[in-house]
Amino acid sequence: MSDPVAAREPDPSRRFAVLASGSGTNLVALADAVADGTVDADLACVVSDVADAPVLERARERGLPARAVPFDRDDRTGWERRLADEVAGHDVGLIVLAGFMRILSPVFLDRWPGRVVNVHPSLLPAFPGADAVGDALAAGVTTTGVTVHLVDELVDHGPVLAQEAVPVLPDDTRTTLLARLHPVEHRLLPQVVARLMGERDDPAHPTSPS
Ligand code: GAR
Repeated sequence: MSDPVAAREPDPSRRFAVLASGSGTNLVALADAVADGTVDADLACVVSDVADAPVLERARERGLPARAVPFDRDDRTGWERRLADEVAGHDVGLIVLAGFMRILSPVFLDRWPGRVVNVHPSLLPAFPGADAVGDALAAGVTTTGVTVHLVDELVDHGPVLAQEAVPVLPDDTRTTLLARLHPVEHRLLPQVVARLMGERDDPAHPTSPS
């Protein structure tokens, strides 16, 4: 007979957190993918470094726990610890950066080794940073794209998990190019999260007795 108390305990290997700073279209894509079963996991919480980020409202509209841990430039380490503590309180085994515009150091990353993922609107290693779309336009490239990767302590850096190219058209503006990049992000990021959740019984991350 199964133990009813154990059955109620949160299973971190089935739960992920989203960290985001902005509008939250990727958060919505992830929430939709959980709702329709594409991602077989619980979206346990949404945490922002910006107190009034629209992503928090979008999360609350969907009934998701949403919290701000406002960035503190005078106490970066303390802020990262508070951020990590907030996320850890939701018993998650995977962190998804969906437009999270702060660099995380080992203070945060060492709490979830190899389990922090980021989406970025370029074909990394091209155009890391906060304005990848503007940088691609300024450079005059004819192809850019979307990368989903594991996060290390460098900016938009770490092992690539998925990439997809998107053409840059001659008349593209930031708005038109972003409008073609976003649907790719909204497809690729949930796919990668689904894959990582499917790998939750990986021997490197054992989650159940064998
Ligand atoms: C996305 O385009 C994401 O790739 C980018 O922020 C945007 C957030 O959009 N992230 C980075 O540039 C990370 N360096 P959203 O708030 O609508 O999901």
